[in-house]
Amino acid sequence: MKKFTLDDLRAARPAGRKLAMLTCYDYSTARLMEEVGIQLLLVGDSAANVILGYPTTLPISLEFMVEITRAVRAGAPSAYIVGDMPFGSYHASMGQAVRNVCRMVQQTGCDCVKLEVSSRQTELVQRLTDAGVGIMAHLGLRPQSVAVLGGYKTQGRTQRDMEEIVSQAVQYEKAGAVSLLLEAVPPEVSQAVVENVKIPVIGCGAGPACDGHVVVMHDILKLSPRSPKFAPQIANVGDAIKTAFAEYKNMIETGAYPGKEHVYSML
Ligand code: KIV
Repeated sequence: MKKFTLDDLRAARPAGRKLAMLTCYDYSTARLMEEVGIQLLLVGDSAANVILGYPTTLPISLEFMVEITRAVRAGAPSAYIVGDMPFGSYHASMGQAVRNVCRMVQQTGCDCVKLEVSSRQTELVQRLTDAGVGIMAHLGLRPQSVAVLGGYKTQGRTQRDMEEIVSQAVQYEKAGAVSLLLEAVPPEVSQAVVENVKIPVIGCGAGPACDGHVVVMHDILKLSPRSPKFAPQIANVGDAIKTAFAEYKNMIETGAYPGKEHVYSML
């Protein structure tokens, strides 16, 4: 399969093409996404919730994120893979941030690194861009800043807040970010952002104007206990897996497993 590159990402808007992005956290699922041609995979720190069972994204470690991003790369060699920097891994100093982001790139082979940015991190994005790292700047709802935002709330709902998000989008484009991720904003906000920047904009609950859309894969497969309203319910994989597990238990309890075909023979 031909590698999906930054040039392909940039070409989407002029060509009127919309891009599919999904979160992905392991090798086997990455292989399936690669096989159906999902162009963009985000190894999100939402792994803290859906893989590790934490109530927020804050506790996940850089080590864990590096390891699963490497696994996703191995499963999807052609996809454009975005590695996500976890809480605290790029905040202590410029040196710490550059070291950790470079580690993410070197040890995983990801194509781009996502940072949840406040209005005051343009210098960091510039520095990382100068170092040769493709940065996706995450604006709007930033789950790592839940303590500052006061909850997981829709962002940019007033004219003033919308203008602030648009202004940050323009600043991060100037700082060299190769793309933006816009989470949980009304469609008017993403429309205004798309009209004011040339770089690709990926939306997560951000309305139709975005160049591509990302959702947490568990939310579209009914593998999450609850899903945000913007995530389409596409399959009930949760029930399919439960049926298979129950069938396995039943096969053992009734002696149907292991059968003759499941045992090794003596030499
Ligand atoms: O970590 C993640 O999965 C994300 C998406 C929800 C945008 O940041």
